[in-house]
Amino acid sequence: MAERLNIRQAEPADHGQIVGVIPSWWGGRDLSYAVPRLFLEHFANTSLVMEDDGRMVGFLVGFMSPSRSEEGYAHFLGVDPAYQGQGIGRHLYERFFELCRQNGRTVVRACTSPVNQASVGFHKKMGFSLSPGDGESDGIPFIKDYNRPGDHKVEFIKRLP
Ligand SMILES: CC(C)(COP(=O)(O)OP(=O)(O)OC[C@H]1O[C@@H](n2cnc3c(N)ncnc32)[C@H](O)[C@@H]1OP(=O)(O)O)[C@@H](O)C(=O)NCCC(=O)NCCS
Repeated sequence: MAERLNIRQAEPADHGQIVGVIPSWWGGRDLSYAVPRLFLEHFANTSLVMEDDGRMVGFLVGFMSPSRSEEGYAHFLGVDPAYQGQGIGRHLYERFFELCRQNGRTVVRACTSPVNQASVGFHKKMGFSLSPGDGESDGIPFIKDYNRPGDHKVEFIKRLP
């Protein structure tokens, strides 16, 4: 990964640029509703921004589960398409795993939509396993109607060494 890239803790002021890039970084899917400002207000210290000369080229919005004291949760992770395939996603996750360890967490969870096969491939490479589900698409197990009817989710779990 290029040396000019810099990783930093996120700030509430990053919310606008994060929701602004989601539609293009997610290939036209506008999932910006899934990252309300409160995530940046309350989980800034466990969320990360990667910059190239001050310009955001990647981010991870995550938190330490208040209900599950052994778990961290990576809610949203994105990399600028022009910067994908250079190790930025891996770097953001490895920094988040470190934050989880520092906070005494031994398990990291994340989830994605079954249509996002790139995310499934990426998470497998990052050492996540797929939880069993009650649905399956192209060999990928998912949990049906996770959020609401028709909104299925693939659940990932990784135990930190
Ligand atoms: C998925 C995403 C975060 C990956 O980021 P990235 O910076 O391109 O990934 P990296 O270069 O760090 O790759 C890390 C590893 O994952 C693998 N990988 C990356 N994208 C992959 C894909 N689409 N399919 C399979 N493996 C993939 C890489 O080969 C690499 O493996 P290696 O280290 O063993 O060589 C990025 O493509 C993205 O932002 N996509 C759009 C948004 C999205 O879907 N986010 C995830 C769901 S919240």
